Amino acid sequence: MHLYRLLFRLVFRRMDPEAAHHLAFRWIRLTARVPVLRTFLAAFFAPRHKELRTEAFGLRMHGPFGLAAGFDKNAVGIDGLAMLGFDHVEIGTVTGRPQPGNPRTRLFRLTPDRALINRMGFNNDGSAAVAARLAARRPVFRTTVGVNIGKTKAVPESEAVADYVLSTERLAAHADYLVVNVSSPNTPGLRSLQAVDQLRPLLTAVRAAADRGVTRRRVPLLVKIAPDLADEDIDAVADLAVELGLDGIIATNTTIAREGLGLASDPALTAETGGLSGAPLKARSLEVLRRLYARVGDRITLVGVGGVENAEDAWRRILAGATLVQGYSAFIYEGPLWSREIHHGLAARLAASPYATLAEAVGADTRKVTE
Ligand SMILES: Cc1cc2nc3c(=O)[nH]c(=O)nc-3n(C[C@H](O)[C@H](O)[C@H](O)COP(=O)(O)O)c2cc1C
Repeated sequence: MHLYRLLFRLVFRRMDPEAAHHLAFRWIRLTARVPVLRTFLAAFFAPRHKELRTEAFGLRMHGPFGLAAGFDKNAVGIDGLAMLGFDHVEIGTVTGRPQPGNPRTRLFRLTPDRALINRMGFNNDGSAAVAARLAARRPVFRTTVGVNIGKTKAVPESEAVADYVLSTERLAAHADYLVVNVSSPNTPGLRSLQAVDQLRPLLTAVRAAADRGVTRRRVPLLVKIAPDLADEDIDAVADLAVELGLDGIIATNTTIAREGLGLASDPALTAETGGLSGAPLKARSLEVLRRLYARVGDRITLVGVGGVENAEDAWRRILAGATLVQGYSAFIYEGPLWSREIHHGLAARLAASPYATLAEAVGADTRKVTE
C-alpha cells in the first residue's frame, strides 16, 4: 500500500483538516531547511523532464504543473513546495490588510468524494508582511512564484480597487506573475467584481500600479474566475481580457454548487457553506476552460485548475487549452508523490501523442471541435 495513504488514514484523517494542513506543511518546510536532505528529496520528488519545459507569459518553467493558491497563503514554504515538484507556486490570496479569516471550523474533508469544502475567508498576514517576507527570501530551488491578491473583508466594496492597488504596489516587485482573485465565494461581494463593468476599472488600475512599481520588466497579470459564472459572463471576461491585453486567465476557483457529489459523503458536511473543490469540480472546470480557449485561442494564456487529480486530468486540460495546470485538493489525498506522478504521466502521454512539444498539444482537442 502507498505509504502516504496509510499516513492519511492513520493520522491526518483523524485530525481537524486545518490542523492536519499546518502539521503537514510544517514537515515540508522543516525538511526543506536541511541541506543534504532537501537535495536528496528534490531529486526524488522533482525529477526534471526536459520535454515538459514550458514557457508561459514570457516565463520559463521546468514544467506546466503548479500548486494553486490557498495552500501557502503567506509565502512561508515556497522552497519546500518546489522540492515536492511544483513547477510554479501561487502564494496567497494576500489582502491589503492582515486579517484572521472566518471562525474555525472552516475547512471540511469530503473524503469519499475526494473533495474539500472551505470557507477560510482569506486568512493571511496582509500584503506588507508578505512583501517583506518575499523580499527577504533567498531561494534554494528555482521555481516560479505567482502572487494572488484579493480584497480585505473590512474594506467596503466601493474601495475595493484601492485595496487591490495597495497590494499590487507592495507585491508586484516580488511576483513572477500577479493574479487578481475575484472568484472566492468566502468574501462577501467579491465575486460581483467579475462583472465586466467592475472588472475593467479594477484590472486597469492593477495593471497601472504594477507598471508604476516595476519598470525593469512587465509583470504578467492574470485574473482568476469562478466556475459558477454563466456562459455569457465567461465570454465577457474572455473578451475583456483580450481588450485589456491581460496575460492570462485562471479557470477555475471553487464552486458554490454541490453537484457531482456521491452519496457517501456526510450530508452534514456537504451542506457546509463555502467553496467546493476536488473531484466534483472536474467536469465544470474543464468545460469553462474549453469555452475560454474557443473564445481566446492563443491570444491569452490559460491556466486550468479544479479537480485535477492525476496525469490524465492534467493532459486533458492541456489538450483543452491550458498552458499551465494547477491543483490543490488532490495534494491532500495523494500526498508528496503527487507531482512526480503527474510529471511522469505527462511525459509518457506526450511521447505517445502526435505532438512534438507540449506547446503543440495546448488546445489541440478544442481546436478539433471548433475547426
Ligand atoms: C483550503 C483551500 C483554500 C483556498 N484558498 C484560495 C485562495 O486563497 N485564493 C484562491 O484564489 N484560491 C483558493 N483556493 C482555490 C484553489 O486555488 C483552486 O482554485 C480550487 O481548489 C480548485 O482546485 P482543486 O480542485 O485542485 O482543489 C483554495 C482552495 C482550498 C481547498
